[in-house]
Amino acid sequence: MEPWFGEEEAQAVAAYMRSGGWVTEFKKTADLEKGIAAYTRAKHCIMTNNGTISLTLAALAVGIKAGDDVIVPNYTMIASPNSVLMIGANPVMVDVEPSTLCLDIEKVKAALTPKTTAIMLVAANGRYPDVGIEAFEKLARERGVVLIEDSAQGLGSSYPDGRHVGTAGLVGSFSFSMPKIISTGQGGCLVTNDDCVAKRLRKLKDFGRSGGGNDIHDTIGWNFKFTDVQAVIGLEQMKKLAWRVERKKAIWRAYEKGLRTVNAIRLFRHDLECTSPWFIDSVCEDRDNLIQYLKSRGIGTRVMYPPINHQVAYQRPGVHPVSDDIGVRGLWLPSASQLTDDQVARICGEIHAFYST
Ligand SMILES: Cc1ncc(COP(=O)(O)O)c(C=O)c1O
Repeated sequence: MEPWFGEEEAQAVAAYMRSGGWVTEFKKTADLEKGIAAYTRAKHCIMTNNGTISLTLAALAVGIKAGDDVIVPNYTMIASPNSVLMIGANPVMVDVEPSTLCLDIEKVKAALTPKTTAIMLVAANGRYPDVGIEAFEKLARERGVVLIEDSAQGLGSSYPDGRHVGTAGLVGSFSFSMPKIISTGQGGCLVTNDDCVAKRLRKLKDFGRSGGGNDIHDTIGWNFKFTDVQAVIGLEQMKKLAWRVERKKAIWRAYEKGLRTVNAIRLFRHDLECTSPWFIDSVCEDRDNLIQYLKSRGIGTRVMYPPINHQVAYQRPGVHPVSDDIGVRGLWLPSASQLTDDQVARICGEIHAFYST
């Protein structure tokens, strides 16, 4: 069984510390940026200290201002809307497709206002919308709004045309917090093919410095830099990525096979040619009792994200039946790449047993 962080990371960090490295962001961070840019086939990759701040930086770099409307899915991790709220923009929650849990494009169209400056498309569990990414690119072009991709859950997933998730929008964001498919403890990055956006992002995350290390500031910026110690871990994690992507697909296939005949639980479809399921998301009947039953047998699960507009932090009106339903029936099953086939079979067996009684 492969541990998340193993001997490889331990040795690499020890060797780096003995080498007298700077610890703060420097050459190892640049190496990791090159590695991620090559993997995602993006022109630029810019590391940041997490996948929430990276979205905030993306919003600033593409010109989103206080008072702008930004379309976000009502089903996502709370970081997506929070990232634009932080700069005074207004996240507008829109419901998601029932099949993929990605933004529903018809509902996006209905929610666009003259104040809308961006659409934040989240690759829910690495999936792309059923209507295709091209439909979102076209909509953004036609309506003069920016497409930002929150691909925090999407490393290892592509669109059917071969582009990596996160590289279709003007800017795409990834997260490396635990337990992402690769992790640096905390961490994030932005990818873009636009030279100007890349330049702005580098300045924004480094105090607005006009050049590396100087104290000349022609724009406002902050400090959202990475560290080379994390980059050393990230470089080792990147070597494990291909294996983990395949393992995640195998785990999804094992669940799909094991639960195919149980009508009370349904997995979300994955186009495994392209997408890598970071976790196993499902909708199930009698969720609370299933959770308790599995817990009593030593199997941990987690309820999926509640609808954003019903979170106490937001409390926004609006009818969003798909994300509302996920709040009632959505359940994540165990999905770590370390899970063995036997363990997945046992979990499926317990779910069968629960619904058979
Ligand atoms: C869709 C989505 N966006 C943003 C984030 C935030 O990333 P981070 O935890 O690195 O800030 C996450 C984290 O899980 C996420 O799932």
